[in-house]
Formats: sequence, structure tokens, C-alpha cells
Amino acid sequence: MPRLVYVLNGPNLNLLGKRQPHIYGHETLADVERDCTALAAELGLEIRFLQSNWEGQIVDWIHEAREAAAGIVINPGALTHTSVAVLDALNAFDGTVIEVHISNVHKRESFRHHSYVSLRADGVIAGCGAQGYGFGLRRVAAVAAAGKA
Ligand code: DQA
Repeated sequence: MPRLVYVLNGPNLNLLGKRQPHIYGHETLADVERDCTALAAELGLEIRFLQSNWEGQIVDWIHEAREAAAGIVINPGALTHTSVAVLDALNAFDGTVIEVHISNVHKRESFRHHSYVSLRADGVIAGCGAQGYGFGLRRVAAVAAAGKA
């Protein structure tokens, strides 16, 4: 049975490809989902690719992942910098957590330099564009394979 990975996207990521393309690029979230789905199949993973503008919905999906998933790849959007609730939910998840940011948050405004999610994340990828999601999936697959060996 393929290992399940939740790929979670927070607020405003539904506008990917439309909002601030000079920062976030021209790829849409549907493009990212398509690429992640293809890569997941190669890696022997199954993914649940989800987006919400609501903090509580992201928390609920993290709870759902607790029962089911080997890993979570999460781009929390602005919740990265504000949400203790998302951090607490991730702290209740035992699998691999990879935090992804399309932009390099460290090159941007100082309020983006702090991440609550990084207090839990096993790995952080920033500034690699939408490719970062693929790097995150590869890492979850590698950790899962190493655990199995
Ligand atoms: C982001 C960076 C965040 O600071 C911002 O609020 C986002 C997207 C990124 O992917 O670069 O919405 O997570």
C-alpha cells in the first residue's frame, strides 16, 4: 500500500499564479498539485493535496493526518508567522513534517523571518519556487524508506 502524505496549503495559496507572480511565480496551485501527484506516484506515495484559507480547517486536516499519514508537507502561508494552533497540531503528529515556502522568506520583510511551524518541522525549504514541494515529498519518501530498512 502506498504511503500517504498530506500536502497542505494555507491562506491565499489558492491564488498562486495570479497574486504577486514576481514573488510566487506563474504556476497555479493546480499545476503544483499535478506535479506533486506525478512525483508521488514515482516515489510510491499517495498524496492528499489540500488548500484552505481557514486556520481551523488546516488544524483539522493535521488531526486527520495523525491517524493516516507518514508525513506532512505544509506551506502554511501567512499562518507560518502567526499560528500557535497550527504548531500545536503539528506537535501532535508523529510523522515527518516538511515546511515549504515558495519564496525565500528570509530575504523578505522581517515579520516573515519567524516561523512557529519551524519549531516542529523536520526540514524547511524556502526560495526554491514550486519545486520546493517536490523536494519535500522526496524527503518524506527518503525518511520513510530509511525507517523501513
Ligand atoms: C509563503 C510565504 C509567506 O510569508 C506568505 O504569507 C505566503 C506564502 C511562501 O510560499 O513563500 O502566503 O508561505
